[in-house]
Amino acid sequence: MELAGDDDDFAVREAESRCSAVELLAPGLATARGVVRPETLAYTRRICRLLGTCDPSVDDAVALLDAASTDRTGTVAVRARDVRGLTGVDTQAVERRLGSVLVDRGFEVDLDDPDNTLVALFSETAALGWLETETPRDFTARQPTDKPFFQPGSMDPMDARALANIAGASPDARLLDPMCGTGGILVEAGLVGTDVVGVDAQRKMVEGARENLAHYLDSFAVVRGDATRLPFADGGFDGAVFDAPYGRQSKVEGVSLESLVGDALREVRRVADRAVVVGDRSWNDAAEAAGWTVESRFDRRVHRSLTRYVHVLV
Ligand SMILES: C[S@@+](CC[C@H](N)C(=O)[O-])C[C@H]1O[C@@H](n2cnc3c(N)ncnc32)[C@H](O)[C@@H]1O
Repeated sequence: MELAGDDDDFAVREAESRCSAVELLAPGLATARGVVRPETLAYTRRICRLLGTCDPSVDDAVALLDAASTDRTGTVAVRARDVRGLTGVDTQAVERRLGSVLVDRGFEVDLDDPDNTLVALFSETAALGWLETETPRDFTARQPTDKPFFQPGSMDPMDARALANIAGASPDARLLDPMCGTGGILVEAGLVGTDVVGVDAQRKMVEGARENLAHYLDSFAVVRGDATRLPFADGGFDGAVFDAPYGRQSKVEGVSLESLVGDALREVRRVADRAVVVGDRSWNDAAEAAGWTVESRFDRRVHRSLTRYVHVLV
């Protein structure tokens, strides 16, 4: 798998929502076993059927392909990538030389519409594999500023997709965002087939989230309510995901941010048994006090004055 972004641990954690036995191979590269609907992943670019790995040089890649069996029929193309520009390998030379190996084996080359694409990914290790899936890179089409309803602080769609996936987004799941704001996370969860429900305390946000969700999804529910007193039955959701207010928004209706997030964490635990919670600080202690176990945390720098802390809670 070729990973996207520059936070491999986070990309691996997202990939685990769709694949088993995910392991980082080198910066930007991971291996996995069973893969289900990988096209929904945000931080994975390509998934290939692995032929093998080698040192990141053209000669080693050629030797690897020479030694491998090619149980394929039809036309071929070769695509080489210097993942994150780490190796400085001459990708055109790689494509030419690996292409020659395939031509010598009797394959016909079709660069426009090949039946099989051999992908050569170069990082601290090189990996060769047959392309299986390229994930759609259409997140920029859903930038918050291009949605019908926009508010500053809306979540970037690529991050929103990854958070939704980690929280368990899938066609079999019902997911809650109890502080849904403009609905950015719910849009991404809904686009992978999840049954999505949003809550927000502000009428303006509820109306705006409905407008955004209606633009992308056929079915959803958004209600005005309080994340610390949710109008849902115990265990009513497969997962929850929310982006808590940040320090600068901290006085929400006169309640301190600490008690708001602490109470919301407790209440969310009543309705779901897994959650992904984002904040501008570590909420580990509050999560544990609310009865959660912090399975993992990712500290993701957004810009100089904002780091998002992503807590995966079970
Ligand atoms: C950081 S914003 C969420 C942004 C959202 N992820 C997006 O992409 O637009 C936090 C939201 O929590 C809401 N909020 C604050 N206190 C709340 C409460 N007690 N119950 C429900 N929502 C609340 C705010 O109205 C705000 O929309």
